[in-house]
Amino acid sequence: MGNAQVIELAHRSQVNVYRCLPVAFVRGQGPYLYDADGNRYLDFFSGLAVTGLGQGHPRLVEAICEQAKRLLHVSNVFHTEPAARLAERLSVLFGDGKVFLSNSGAEANEAAIKLARLWGHRAGGGRFEIVTAANSFHGRTLATLAATGQEQYRRGFEPAMPGFRVVPFNDLPALAAAVGPQTVAVMLEPIQGEGGVVAPHPDYLQEVRVLCDRQALLLILDEIQTGMGRTGKMFAYQHSAINPDIVTLAKSLAGGLPIGATIAHSRIAAVFEPGSHGSTFGGNPVACAAALAVLDVLNEEGLVDNAARLGEYMLERLRQIARQCPAVVEVRGKGLLIGIALDRPARPVVEHCLKERLVTNATAETVLRLLPPLIVEREEADLALNIIERALRGLN
Ligand SMILES: Cc1ncc(COP(=O)(O)O)c(C=O)c1O
Repeated sequence: MGNAQVIELAHRSQVNVYRCLPVAFVRGQGPYLYDADGNRYLDFFSGLAVTGLGQGHPRLVEAICEQAKRLLHVSNVFHTEPAARLAERLSVLFGDGKVFLSNSGAEANEAAIKLARLWGHRAGGGRFEIVTAANSFHGRTLATLAATGQEQYRRGFEPAMPGFRVVPFNDLPALAAAVGPQTVAVMLEPIQGEGGVVAPHPDYLQEVRVLCDRQALLLILDEIQTGMGRTGKMFAYQHSAINPDIVTLAKSLAGGLPIGATIAHSRIAAVFEPGSHGSTFGGNPVACAAALAVLDVLNEEGLVDNAARLGEYMLERLRQIARQCPAVVEVRGKGLLIGIALDRPARPVVEHCLKERLVTNATAETVLRLLPPLIVEREEADLALNIIERALRGLN
């Protein structure tokens, strides 16, 4: 099938919840994608921050194939080596953590919310309320929608689940004022991805950590978009030199297979006991084998440092480009999570780039977001930057 046939078929039978661009991809290699008509695209979206190793990385493919041949799935009433090894690796990375494995970002956050509530009921004097930030995004399930600080995602799905309070991001007094006798946790993204690549001021997360310590609150950090090296550190919170109590991962953890992980300090995770929570597919051996390969490749190929280095280079060049383009309000981000805020909708820029065979993304309506794979090289960055420059200059 060509692009047109795939799109026609999709329109006929798939629920229409995504604002799809008119392309059907059939294969990929490294940072390149190929559509059903044989066109090649440079991918600066990575399946929304998922394919951190690009497409077809031999180590990842081999790990998936080997594990698929050996054992595809068993129930979580049994142990498997890939899940045990992955939990161990994540626990060490986090430092004294215990890990619950699931299949998506929303599920990782659901587990974090349930854990915080259970901890509040068992060890925190019955507290249950979680304070989250305006402009945040934590997922599409009913609890994560209630945690999400953007009204538009909740519209039509009311009533929202109770037990959440939303305060402005990057505003410590507002956060402090929202903490009440029922508050058990604060939940934040270290950089708001869907909200338009919005970073807090440099001291904010440290100040939040201090507030949480003073008030015996759990600090939950949603690293679903920012984690796994994307911002130039394994976890984005490492830029602030703090430690959360619970961190959630998904997206690029398994390089393209569905996975979610909720990592909590052992003293908190201890309230989860048999029957507290679960997932049929959580800890799937193939997804876990993929995640172990991703962790190995990140280390061996120095990809976290590459994200830091190339991210700085791209930010610098984009800021130069922005000086010639009045439509650009701000260039921001960290590592390879980059936002170019415009004074108008970003979707036409995405469409221009797509015509020039560069895949990018628009978020928060007016922000052009770049999420290249962590394997990206300088030459590819330059190719992409040239296309983006043409698209942005075309706006004036
Ligand atoms: C910060 C953050 N949290 C949670 C999610 C939800 O993840 P998923 O779509 O895998 O449920 C996303 C997805 O974009 C995200 O960016």
